[in-house]
Amino acid sequence: MRSVIDILDLSVEELDELLAVAQDIIDNPEKYQNACAHKKLATLFFEPSTRTRLSFEAAMYELGGNVLSVTGGNTSSVAKGESVADTAKTVSCYADIIAMRHPKEGAALVAANNASIPVINAGDGGHCHPTQTLADLLTIKREKGGFDGLTIGLCGDLKFGRTVHSLINAMSRYRDIRFILVSPEELKLPSYVKNETLKKYGLPYVQTNDLLEHLPEMDVLYMTRVQRERFFNEEDYLRLKDTYVLTPDKLKTAKSDLCIMHPLPRVNEISVAIDNDPRACYFKQVLNGKYMRMALILKLLKEAAV
Ligand code: CP
Repeated sequence: MRSVIDILDLSVEELDELLAVAQDIIDNPEKYQNACAHKKLATLFFEPSTRTRLSFEAAMYELGGNVLSVTGGNTSSVAKGESVADTAKTVSCYADIIAMRHPKEGAALVAANNASIPVINAGDGGHCHPTQTLADLLTIKREKGGFDGLTIGLCGDLKFGRTVHSLINAMSRYRDIRFILVSPEELKLPSYVKNETLKKYGLPYVQTNDLLEHLPEMDVLYMTRVQRERFFNEEDYLRLKDTYVLTPDKLKTAKSDLCIMHPLPRVNEISVAIDNDPRACYFKQVLNGKYMRMALILKLLKEAAV
């Protein structure tokens, strides 16, 4: 059974196909309004979410399907100690596809290995968030026209930011990509992402703690929140949380067509004064996420039916 746990589970050709379907959904929504009639999506969210859960649910409703939902660890038998494996086997009896968010790295893979229906990883701890990456890719494609030759700045919590890890993996497969990794020392990109992706594929990158130094070179600036929930020590979080706050004055040296992104939720990383700047793309990402999740649900249900 085909599941999507990591963005690398999808080939570049499949990403192209998903991007094309998402664009077709945007252009011709009526074509898709009954595409998932009588199908059920189970959203199992054992960690807080606004965008990912609601966009999956909106996606399924707009495809004419239905939704079963578990939110929070206290409203299901997980609170009684039921395992992820047993939960996945059980939900397979009721639904046609699962989207699952869980605080533990690897939980989505365990669910996929035990479910008899497709499982989509909607975020597993600090590991991966492939459908956020689908939203990011559609946003970059619509804003920049394509992926090759881009200089991408990633700023903030590069250690725990699972959206950063997934985006680096996805972008590493396009041509002439360059990364500028901006973080405090304590929140640098994990060495496994550096070794298994950046170094392995010989991708040029700069590591710095100075956002302004390299801002003029960037085509995309991907800001991230410091992930409070993954810190062991509140003092460290409080010390690091406002290291980077993007304000209009800091954008003076940026390109006029810079694409400013953020997976959201935003805490303090981007001033609201930037929201009306034409370069602000973070709410476009939110909407694009729904279209890409529609395309992914369609693809996995179609493959499961064969
Ligand atoms: N970007 C993202 O995953 O947002 P939520 O946590 O609100 O789902």
